[in-house]
Amino acid sequence: MLYQKLNKKNSKRRINKMTITLDNELLSNLTNSVISQMSTTPSARLRTVMECAVRHLHAFAIETKLTPEEWLTGIAFLTAAGQMSSSDRQEFILLSDTLGLSTIVNLLQDGSGLVQATESSLLGPFYRNNAPSYQVGESMARRCNGPQLQLYGRILSTEGNPIPNATVQIWQTDSEGVYDIQRGSEMDTRGVYTTDENGYYHALTVMPKSYPLPSDGPVRRMLNAQSRHGNRPAHIHFLISAPEHKELVTALYVAGDRYIDDDTVFGVSSARLIATPSLDNNAPHPEIPTICYDFHLVAGVAEGGRVGADVATLKY
Ligand SMILES: [Fe+2]
Repeated sequence: MLYQKLNKKNSKRRINKMTITLDNELLSNLTNSVISQMSTTPSARLRTVMECAVRHLHAFAIETKLTPEEWLTGIAFLTAAGQMSSSDRQEFILLSDTLGLSTIVNLLQDGSGLVQATESSLLGPFYRNNAPSYQVGESMARRCNGPQLQLYGRILSTEGNPIPNATVQIWQTDSEGVYDIQRGSEMDTRGVYTTDENGYYHALTVMPKSYPLPSDGPVRRMLNAQSRHGNRPAHIHFLISAPEHKELVTALYVAGDRYIDDDTVFGVSSARLIATPSLDNNAPHPEIPTICYDFHLVAGVAEGGRVGADVATLKY
């Protein structure tokens, strides 16, 4: 009797083991079938990216034992992200930012800059083409008020040589932590400067402020579900380009900001991008809090473009 019971138990175990083995084999076969069917993809790069995506997607579902309800929640979340996106809002870029993906792609793209040149940072969703041009020393804060801030320094090669005629695009929030586009106003606290023969740039603006990510979309609901604060530290964006040099997309983060060590989009990728505004006797206006910062550009032309865009220009 006992023997029969044990035998029955062992046989059940064998069946369970077989079922698990069979399931794993089925799952593995399924992954291989999908990859096999996609092998007709003419573009080698698209084939590689999609194969890798499918492998990881299947592994993710298997590892988490994804339930039908969770799968449907994910579908609804992505649908809502698409519905929230428009010509002035890109919820998927926000999602990418908050998952750290944008910073990873940025670091991969700008790998050479880590050693020799100024580190890159995120372009973010508030970059706009065709910002107004200003002369050296002009203020780009045209409509907003707030504590003044002065920015100056030089654009240099990695050997330390000045780069004249470099284009320096700068954009930031106002002193209340709001971008012009969020107010629906004309362009403000953004401008384009050109360096002089010594590679020198100089801009006047207002002190930026930390700001929360938009509160009305699925990404914010995700952050709330994770009990994340959802804020970015105060920062100033720079996009610097010059002939025969790799474009630099970066930002300077204001030292002392409460979110400097906990940026929701992981943009503070280097301590060297943290700047402290202070009075500077060498600045053109010594009475104004100032950030003096030299940027170093790598010689050569960037491949693959920048990570991000003016969302109004995206084609779907
Ligand atoms: Fe920003």
